[in-house]
Amino acid sequence: MLDPGSIRQAAEIIKKGGLVAFPTETVYGLGADAFNPIAVARIFEVKRRPYFDPLIVHVSDPADLKKLVIKIPPDAKKLMERFWPGPLTVVLLKKDEVPDIVNAGLPTVAIRMPKHPMALSLIEQAHCPIAAPSANPFGYLSPTTVEHVRNQLGDQIDYILDGGPCEVGVESTIISFSEGKSKLLRPGGVPLEEIESVIGTVEVSTAEVDRPAAPGMLPRHYAPRTPIVLEWDEKDFNSQKGKKIGLLAFQEPMSSTKFHHVEILSKKGDMREAAANLFAAIRHLDTLNLDLILAEAIPEIGLGRAIMDRLRRASGIA
Ligand code: TXA
Ligand code: MG
Repeated sequence: MLDPGSIRQAAEIIKKGGLVAFPTETVYGLGADAFNPIAVARIFEVKRRPYFDPLIVHVSDPADLKKLVIKIPPDAKKLMERFWPGPLTVVLLKKDEVPDIVNAGLPTVAIRMPKHPMALSLIEQAHCPIAAPSANPFGYLSPTTVEHVRNQLGDQIDYILDGGPCEVGVESTIISFSEGKSKLLRPGGVPLEEIESVIGTVEVSTAEVDRPAAPGMLPRHYAPRTPIVLEWDEKDFNSQKGKKIGLLAFQEPMSSTKFHHVEILSKKGDMREAAANLFAAIRHLDTLNLDLILAEAIPEIGLGRAIMDRLRRASGIA
């Protein structure tokens, strides 16, 4: 799978200012040379992403931070040592050299070192940090397989690297250090509990306050076309008689016969497996021409926090 020829070709395209979709352990990214503002501008065009929504810069070595940030607070360093490479993004005060289009003019830049070997080789061989959002049209579900990328953006990207299905399946956890203390901006692949076991209590951002600074936190983000309802009970279900309803279940549901289709995130109730299957399951339900998707709530511990965050945004109630 780690075809050296295709990674080399993709790296050449990045160097020349092109766009490459590549696998990470969380979701597929749509990457460009972070120091080439024109290449980065094309990411926004292809995704139809508003320019006020900043991008994450991907590095292959923590030493690359020297080019990007003014300083690294001790707690940020501890987290990087513990969770990189992996699904953790840190937001730090940026150097002037980072083009403003990458970070929407903010004084900060979001950085992560992904774990997928293809992503790491790509960054290494391109010899530049790679700015990359998830490789989906703005507001839609993140892609966790190469087919998702091809179906939605395929004809607009210069190269697509196939690294198989993403292992983690939800995006990285974002922790900001921009205001001197740590703050969770987005729950993700590294559970908050694990982060707090390294640096102590982390403030959890409230959507109202942080929305302007982190538009990835917009309500109805990660949304399919079919309406998703997260808070429902038997009564609501019965009032929808005659409608085609799908169920997104965590484990095997009690009764599945009344649903047009049921997607089970993890038969054995494993949170990691559920996260890895989440976006593909919603996408599949979205292809079935249903009137409605009902989603089961999941306990908000560990990865359950990221899963519920994505489900709330998909249903528009975040
Ligand atoms: O797992 C991931 O993080 C994936 C893979 C491809 O690395 N990337 C990803 O990127 O999810 P994207 O663009 O879909 O989401 C990035 C989020 C957005 O919500 C954005 O607002 C926030 O990061 N962000 C980026 N830079 C920021 C900054 N300087 N301050 C605050 N939030 C920032
Ligand atoms: Mg995204």
